[in-house]
Amino acid sequence: MAGISNAQVHEVREITRIERIGAHSHIRGLGLDDSLEPRKISQGMVGQLQARRAAGVVLGIIREGKIAGRAVLLAGQPGTGKTAIAMGMSQALGTEAPFVCMAGSEIYSLEMSKTEALTQAIRKSIGVRIKEETEIIEGEVVEVQVDRPATGVGVKIGKLTLKTTEMETIYDLGNKMIESLMKEKVQAGDVITIDKATGKISRLGRSFTRARDYDATGPQTRFVQCPEGELQKRKEVVHTVSLHEIDVINSRTHGFLALFSGDTGEIKSEVRDQINAKVSEWREEGKAEIVPGVLFIDEVHMLDIECFSFLNRALEDEMAPVVITATNRGITRIRGTSYSSPHGIPLDLLDRMIIIPTIPYTEQELKEILKIRCQEEDCEISDDALIILTRIASETSLRYAIQLITTASLVSRRRKSTEVSTEDIKRVYYLFLDEHRSTQFLKDYQDEYLYDQGANGQVTETPEMEVCQ
Ligand SMILES: Nc1ncnc2c1ncn2[C@@H]1O[C@H](COP(=O)(O)OP(=O)(O)OP(=O)(O)O)[C@@H](O)[C@H]1O
Ligand SMILES: [Mg+2]
Repeated sequence: MAGISNAQVHEVREITRIERIGAHSHIRGLGLDDSLEPRKISQGMVGQLQARRAAGVVLGIIREGKIAGRAVLLAGQPGTGKTAIAMGMSQALGTEAPFVCMAGSEIYSLEMSKTEALTQAIRKSIGVRIKEETEIIEGEVVEVQVDRPATGVGVKIGKLTLKTTEMETIYDLGNKMIESLMKEKVQAGDVITIDKATGKISRLGRSFTRARDYDATGPQTRFVQCPEGELQKRKEVVHTVSLHEIDVINSRTHGFLALFSGDTGEIKSEVRDQINAKVSEWREEGKAEIVPGVLFIDEVHMLDIECFSFLNRALEDEMAPVVITATNRGITRIRGTSYSSPHGIPLDLLDRMIIIPTIPYTEQELKEILKIRCQEEDCEISDDALIILTRIASETSLRYAIQLITTASLVSRRRKSTEVSTEDIKRVYYLFLDEHRSTQFLKDYQDEYLYDQGANGQVTETPEMEVCQ
């Protein structure tokens, strides 16, 4: 088994190598210690201590998996790390429970009703852990003996001798088993498992006792211990699938292939009712467990009043996930109404939420975040340049400063330097405008733009407009 897990770790490493550097790829967790206290800088996370501690508590709720339908709102100014904290939670949760991310505006672009899109997102965030017990035979092959009929045609018969450290047994082989043994190229010294129900044979590797058998060893050969105890074993296999996956597989109109294309369309409510009934039956029989996960809705103010009231109701369901939302809006209009409310979220939903505020960063924290981003992008930067970049981050925005790292690093590489200097930062600062300077630029030259509404909202005619007509 050790051989197998090593091989898996190796595979994962290869996948991460081709991962691209994204806006939050430096975040590897929430950076909390065992007692949920946030460390100042850890796992790519800097500062924002209160919010991270609160997120850690929410993570505890999710891990326990007992409380359904809680809603959390991360609220704060742009660039204060709301999405970053949600990503940290997702990393910290690992593969224990599903974590589904969506942006509020996504529900408008899908080819289905808004409530269907939300229902699918909710059901994607609920996992069902299904346990299956299978009987297997596991042992080291001592001998495979196959008797072929003299004519070359007809039924083959044979014997397979398997052993563990404690026992040895001879099994009679039928035609089918012989064929699968041949297909797997099983030979003496291999450690194999045979699934009793399906007859499937898997090779785990070669036994250590045969390590000196050079003939049968290739560069890929994996060595494993000879199994202990009985030859026949019961093995528990656990799969975790989401409720949505079960829905799609059982929906007659789509079939499981739709899972790969993502083009699942709307799913009938009868299918969902049947699945719910089946899953609760499995739960009662102890065959399955529900693993409530997380649905993260970023930019939640983009949802409209219908979605909000749907969420109100959905949160009260017994099978609801923990819904984490984030917004950077203040008091603003609720989409689909003419009423205003804090964060653009109706008061009745807001009342059901616990709110985690995020606050602007200090200059020192900005510096640490920028330093981490430089490491993430493999960019060497001089101390002076980092100080200037920090100043830019505090006077414009953190995101703008992060963008300058990539561009400045390109500029420095062009002059064949390995380190970004203050000159490089200055150069890209003038090449690329931040939001504030761009607005100023527009104000200065607004008369020369097309369809400009000017300061008083009136369209000023430009010669180009006449050309268009
Ligand atoms: N505490 C932090 N530690 C490390 N990196 C951070 C932290 N906070 C923010 N960042 C990084 O800064 C950038 C901006 O943060 P983020 O996208 O999380 O902001 P936001 O609060 O979601 O903003 P918006 O409201 O505009 O969506 C991201 O690249 C993010 O990874
Ligand atoms: Mg965000």
